[in-house]
Amino acid sequence: MDISRIMQVLNVAEKAAIAAAKWNGKGDKKAADQAATEAMRSAFNQIDFSGRIVIGEGERDEAPMLYIGEELGRGGEAIDIAVDPLEGTNLCAYNRPNALTTIAIAPKGSLLFAPDTYMWKIAAGAGCAGRVHIDAPPAQNVAAVADVLGKPVAEVNVCILLRDRHKELIDAIRATGARIRLIDDGDVFGAIATAVPDTGIDLYLGSGGAPEGVLAAAGLKAIGGVFMGRLDFSIDPHGAEKRERALKTAEIDIDAPLTMDMLVRSDEAAFIACGVTDGEMVSGVSDIGGSITTSSIIMNSYDKTVRFVRTTRMHEGSKIHF
Ligand code: FBP
Repeated sequence: MDISRIMQVLNVAEKAAIAAAKWNGKGDKKAADQAATEAMRSAFNQIDFSGRIVIGEGERDEAPMLYIGEELGRGGEAIDIAVDPLEGTNLCAYNRPNALTTIAIAPKGSLLFAPDTYMWKIAAGAGCAGRVHIDAPPAQNVAAVADVLGKPVAEVNVCILLRDRHKELIDAIRATGARIRLIDDGDVFGAIATAVPDTGIDLYLGSGGAPEGVLAAAGLKAIGGVFMGRLDFSIDPHGAEKRERALKTAEIDIDAPLTMDMLVRSDEAAFIACGVTDGEMVSGVSDIGGSITTSSIIMNSYDKTVRFVRTTRMHEGSKIHF
């Protein structure tokens, strides 16, 4: 993706993070999500592109804005957009680490309209391609990552969402002797962090939202990491109904393992996330000294880079102090 387009989308992620961060620690996840969504929509509409929401806040009748199929922008290049305007709504509401605003972009027609259900996911960094698999036993995946990274299994750090449904998975990882980083929420962070130096996370395993899977896949594909998924309707209280619908409308075999190339059908993709609360990957929004500073991460297929961007915006009439 062209760098000027990336900068425009970065601006969208930053504005959404600033809006959401006003709600950090206020205990109101709906208000935080709404603030991020409204800011995102308004900023997207300033861009000279024809954006189409593929992964959004839901369908038109249940989401007032950024609904699936919504068209954004002032016209121009046709782009698919996946968003989770506030990934980790509870993380923001309770001021816990790693709440992010997240956006993936790719050429029109390339991002999968993933059903809004659950997905089992595996994610790992560059070098693990062909070495890990969504259907392999956890111990085998951990051993493969240890081999690629050249460290003992006991030093491999596996990120998993803390959920009852992951008990068996957690037991299987414990049995290998590897470390586990349990997270309360926010598996886009968990998956992306496997490909980002210094997060300490080597492998992501477990089930979470399928839409979040597409976002993570875009980031990992952009820089040569690994992501695979498998839809699971059985965890979802409305799974039977959603499965029936997906069987009729899905663009994929809903029972097959989903590779990055199925989730993101282009080699041109970018993932942008801006910190709302502080975390291992990026800092949260800081509003002090007459200025607001945001920290973001950009993963871009154009030059296969992970960039960190700190942006300072001045309050009116203030000067930058360094
Ligand atoms: P929200 O941002 O919608 O609160 O989702 C947070 C999240 O933890 C995602 O990162 C994850 O994919 C999903 O929820 C897991 O769903 P569940 O909480 O139902 O296990």
